Amino acid sequence: MSSLAHDQNENTSANPQAGNLGGEIEQLEDIRPVPRVTIQAFCETESVSRTLEMTAQDRRMAKAHVKVHMGGIAAAVDFYSNAPTPNLIVVETKNSGSELINELGLLSDVCDSETKVVIIGVLNDIVMYRDLISKGISEYLVAPVSMADFMAVITNIYVSPESAVLGRTIAFIGAKGGNGSSTICHNIAWAVSSTYQTDVVLADTDLAFGTANINLDQDPAQGIAEAVFSADRVDEILLDRLLSKCAEHLRLLAAPSTLDRAYDFDKKAFSQVIDVAQRGVPYVIIDLPQQWNSWTMDILTGADEVVITACPDLTNLRNTKNLVDKLIELRPNDAKPKLILNQVGVPKRPEINVNDFIAPLDLQPLAIIPFEPALFGTAANNGQMISEADHKHAVSDSFDKIAQILTGKAEFKQEKSRSFDIRALLKRKKS
Ligand SMILES: Nc1ncnc2c1ncn2[C@@H]1O[C@H](COP(=O)(O)OP(=O)(O)O)[C@@H](O)[C@H]1O
Ligand SMILES: [Mg+2]
Repeated sequence: MSSLAHDQNENTSANPQAGNLGGEIEQLEDIRPVPRVTIQAFCETESVSRTLEMTAQDRRMAKAHVKVHMGGIAAAVDFYSNAPTPNLIVVETKNSGSELINELGLLSDVCDSETKVVIIGVLNDIVMYRDLISKGISEYLVAPVSMADFMAVITNIYVSPESAVLGRTIAFIGAKGGNGSSTICHNIAWAVSSTYQTDVVLADTDLAFGTANINLDQDPAQGIAEAVFSADRVDEILLDRLLSKCAEHLRLLAAPSTLDRAYDFDKKAFSQVIDVAQRGVPYVIIDLPQQWNSWTMDILTGADEVVITACPDLTNLRNTKNLVDKLIELRPNDAKPKLILNQVGVPKRPEINVNDFIAPLDLQPLAIIPFEPALFGTAANNGQMISEADHKHAVSDSFDKIAQILTGKAEFKQEKSRSFDIRALLKRKKS
């Protein structure tokens, strides 16, 4: 990124009130998570401090420790005259030329040698930029800065190409148990790996009852349990041993699916194994049990994409609405979760019509998959994927399309619809 490429008249502000969040979400999609660094900022303007505060809340910054202060370079000099300096100091300044150089001289007197400095200034001048870089400043950005600009600078400084996070994570959860979330998750992992010949790690996080091993006809001696119960030891070599190969490009981190022990986990239990997997493959696809606890919330918050599988009844609608709302709150700078409607058209079962189901959610489904017990039952009993059981079936086609969208090979537009009124829906159902 060229930090001087901004046109100062162009509004690149990250402030969602400025109505620019759609574009910002797109820019942010390419930014990979920021490593565990400490960052302290000293701002002069409300708009820069607000952008940095919002950036600090973003899921991609979850590992970094960020503090935003006001007062510019003078406050930073004052602060660090009796405090150690962090990995990165960000200072906003209205000064340029010799005034700025003098201020930076004072700052360098109180900075540890390892500390990096990024400046957010007002003057868009290439000579000054080169001068600052030659004096050891890591980057000079021209205000207004966007969240994506700021995060890109941090990743440019701290993420080396060898340690860069490569893989995108896609997490699947059901709005209710038995919806087919796991089945769809496994089939999508299969479709991504076989259609695009791209490596996928499928992680089954339902340790007690996971079905990925059955659906993919695997019986590995080790898997995800070894990874989470010795999380601090997990590295590429250990992970490699725990993965079982299901197809040329698909490897499974299988659940033990036994009840020998209780599976209680703390919030970050899965973060190390997902981190390591993400460094090795382009896609990490995560099958979550239908549970709402600190670690499932943490995985959902950190994922690049979330897919909710729902069936068309009222409990599912309520749960999906709650999930969508909560995920938007937890991931304010990300696209909305994706929705798959599954098991549509069970004979004799009263169902909420698809349009009525999606209207209150304000999102379009990625796919509507019919209830096909013979197809799904046969595939499950034979340890096959749906496309192995019947590759000509329309459901196989749907899985290919979902895989295309989730990997960005095809575009998907979520249209607007009307707002939520569950009472109106209930009345309509009863009448
Ligand atoms: N569209 C469908 N039609 C018929 N059966 C389905 C369909 N989708 C999933 N199933 C079946 O539903 C059952 C529950 O699926 P599963 O993936 O374990 O659900 P979840 O992970 O949401 O609890 C499985 O037996 C699966 O084969
Ligand atoms: Mg499941």
